[in-house]
Amino acid sequence: MAFYYAPMEGITLYPLRNIHKDMFGKEMDKYFTPFLTAAKNYHFKKREQRDVLPEYSTSFCDVSNEIVPQLMANQAEIFIWAAKKISALGYNEINLNMGCPAATVVNRHKGSGLLENPDILDRMLFDIFDTVDKENLGFKVSLKTRLGLMDVSETPRLMEVLASYPASELTIHARVRSDFYKGEPRLDTFCEAVKIYRENGGKADICYNGSISTVSDYNRIKEYLDIELTDVDISYMIGRGLVENPALVREICGGEPLGSKELKEYLDKLYVGYEGYIPEERNVIFKMLEHWAFLHVHFKDCDKQLKAVRKARSKGEYLAAVNNIFSCCEFT
Ligand SMILES: Cc1cc2nc3c(=O)[nH]c(=O)nc-3n(C[C@H](O)[C@H](O)[C@H](O)COP(=O)(O)O)c2cc1C
Repeated sequence: MAFYYAPMEGITLYPLRNIHKDMFGKEMDKYFTPFLTAAKNYHFKKREQRDVLPEYSTSFCDVSNEIVPQLMANQAEIFIWAAKKISALGYNEINLNMGCPAATVVNRHKGSGLLENPDILDRMLFDIFDTVDKENLGFKVSLKTRLGLMDVSETPRLMEVLASYPASELTIHARVRSDFYKGEPRLDTFCEAVKIYRENGGKADICYNGSISTVSDYNRIKEYLDIELTDVDISYMIGRGLVENPALVREICGGEPLGSKELKEYLDKLYVGYEGYIPEERNVIFKMLEHWAFLHVHFKDCDKQLKAVRKARSKGEYLAAVNNIFSCCEFT
């Protein structure tokens, strides 16, 4: 069993990956980057490319196996171009995003838009895996998908298609696109999907993703999957749960719960990390507010103090507001 930090646009960038690995990463096996767009003009955005330059991954001993760059593409040849370029930097695995639900992405037949037409997806995957094999490209291709676009009736056909190709790992976010990120994860359909995938010869390692925010979420989901999928060794990918509680995987593995002092240290380090990543002070603060949107749950009755954090427009105001929340609000 393994634990992964899910790819999260704007969040799992190298400052967070380094700081999280350093402070809470002992039990973490892989960190997925936010998606990089493999665009039709065969160019990466500079900022996206910088995020995968291995020299920035200072907390990792084995960047090639511990960090997985993710690509967003809707054509095999563009995916291959991008995967060659990124893997050449020193990565053993490249992940294809088949799950992003944003309308702008889906309308371009990318992300979960790839699930709309299984025949087109089939051809794209054929071309990708055929090229990786024929050109002996030497990197693994893993897939991160949902259970379908509109409806779980799409799941069986999707799994049949995916089972035809030698992906190294198949992560399934246990929702369909139209669920976005809401509602209970569809554990029953996840299990059905894995069974169909295996019955059709799919050999990839299997990873579960969806709504693990507490140790009890994990225990409940793991117990369900262990009963339904007795022969499958499942890994767990966690996104929002780790943003909310950076120590979640440590806790799941029997370690100490998140402490107030270490959360403060984590936030201080993140601020400094983002200062080196984003030039403008205001934008560093906005980046920290993305974390506070998740982290405020640790502070009891903190509305007033949180408002001050949100209103901060300078580093001084921000740090004072954060100190205030730590000193005035009960940590839970
Ligand atoms: C803010 C945000 C950004 C995300 N960015 C990506 C992304 O770049 N690539 C991707 O495959 N999934 C992305 N996701 C989806 C997560 O990887 C994950 O599948 C989803 O949040 C469900 O897992 P969780 O319940 O553990 O958060 C994003 C989710 C959120 C909330």
